[in-house]
Amino acid sequence: MSARELPWTEKYRPRRILDVAGNEEAKKKYVAWINSWVRGKPTKKAALLYGPPGCGKTSIVFATAQEFNWELIELNASDVRSREAIEARVFSSSRTGSVAGYAGKIILLDEVDGISPREDAGGLQAILDLIERSAYPVVLTANDPWDPKLRPLRDVCELIEFKRLGKRDVVKVLESICAKEGITCDKEVLSAIAENAKGDLRAAINDLQTLAAGRKSISLADLQVLGERAEQESMFEVVRTVLTAKTPEQALSVTRLPSLDYEMLLQWLSENVVYQYEPSLQAIADAYDALSWADVMLSRMKREQQWALLSYALELMTAGVASARQRPPFKFVKYNFPEKLRLLSRMKEQREKFRRAVRLAARNLHVSTSTFKTEILPYIKVIYEHDRKKGEELLEKLGVRREDLEVVLRG
Ligand SMILES: Nc1ncnc2c1ncn2[C@@H]1O[C@H](COP(=O)(O)OP(=O)(O)OP(=O)(O)O)[C@@H](O)[C@H]1O
Ligand SMILES: [Mg+2]
Repeated sequence: MSARELPWTEKYRPRRILDVAGNEEAKKKYVAWINSWVRGKPTKKAALLYGPPGCGKTSIVFATAQEFNWELIELNASDVRSREAIEARVFSSSRTGSVAGYAGKIILLDEVDGISPREDAGGLQAILDLIERSAYPVVLTANDPWDPKLRPLRDVCELIEFKRLGKRDVVKVLESICAKEGITCDKEVLSAIAENAKGDLRAAINDLQTLAAGRKSISLADLQVLGERAEQESMFEVVRTVLTAKTPEQALSVTRLPSLDYEMLLQWLSENVVYQYEPSLQAIADAYDALSWADVMLSRMKREQQWALLSYALELMTAGVASARQRPPFKFVKYNFPEKLRLLSRMKEQREKFRRAVRLAARNLHVSTSTFKTEILPYIKVIYEHDRKKGEELLEKLGVRREDLEVVLRG
């Protein structure tokens, strides 16, 4: 995906409730509830939309706001606890209509299952108060609503279950995106993407966008790329095991996985430990300490061929991280793909082009690639700056293809 391109999940987010695919029953129930608000006689003041990721829970609320021209007010647990925030955003002039020409408001508390009752003492109560006082529809979403701590919320909400989307629904959405993007794509490919996404439309759309990058048609051969998602998923599990382990032994158990990519694990843990361990700064500091030692061990291991160091590195990054002091109680966290790796893979293609071109040019000149890069390329760049045509000609004479010129001159 190029930096300028909007993620398709955002670009094609449903704009009207009817655009939300699948889940007919849930939509019916939701629309009935919304309509009861429109008529001024809400059946319940709040609705709790629950179900697996990527099936349209958050989207249907966004769509509602657009369709009715309501101001969407998104709150999180800490907003709700802060009286000022709530007063200012929800209740100020609430009963007299709102600014900017909106016809009303809708309040969204997304992912309420992330609330931890111990840290958010009073958070739950604050949500209940909000629902009680609100003059506007309040929508809560959750993946898992059955946690006992959410019981009081369940009691005051209209419960609406969203299910995994069926394969046919997923394929239909993908087809319509292809049509809008002017991409031709085998039906088989779309069906494989849908299969792979297991009812998660967000994942399916992301996969489609990845596959479609720079192409106008997608064939079965392009599908290999998707294999990577499976790898990513198992990494989620490994990270979760380490970051939520109750004992160091539990965390250590992941090192026995035959396919463990420990360098990858180090990146993933570095990216995500902070989300899991916040708000305890001490725990975060201790965990990063363990990770940095693991990093030191790994590079020493490679530099000095001291393979025995691997077991220390592994212990540090698993048991070491898991025994960070004052680890906060478990909470549900969505892990991220490490930013660094994402950047790397985006740049990988460019780097490969560069390497290929440089290797060829060096071979034609009978020098090593490093000599070419340090002793020859800089001069060609200087020539290029003064005389573009000459610089390009030189590179082309050395065998660099026209389409690779830019990468070489930038590299
Ligand atoms: N039923 C749907 N119809 C159309 N698009 C959808 C649907 N479900 C998901 N999408 C697409 O996937 C993206 C993510 O969906 P959404 O944010 O609604 O998921 P969610 O159910 O709230 O998931 P989570 O539990 O992870 O928050 C949307 O931006 C949209 O592009
Ligand atoms: Mg959501």
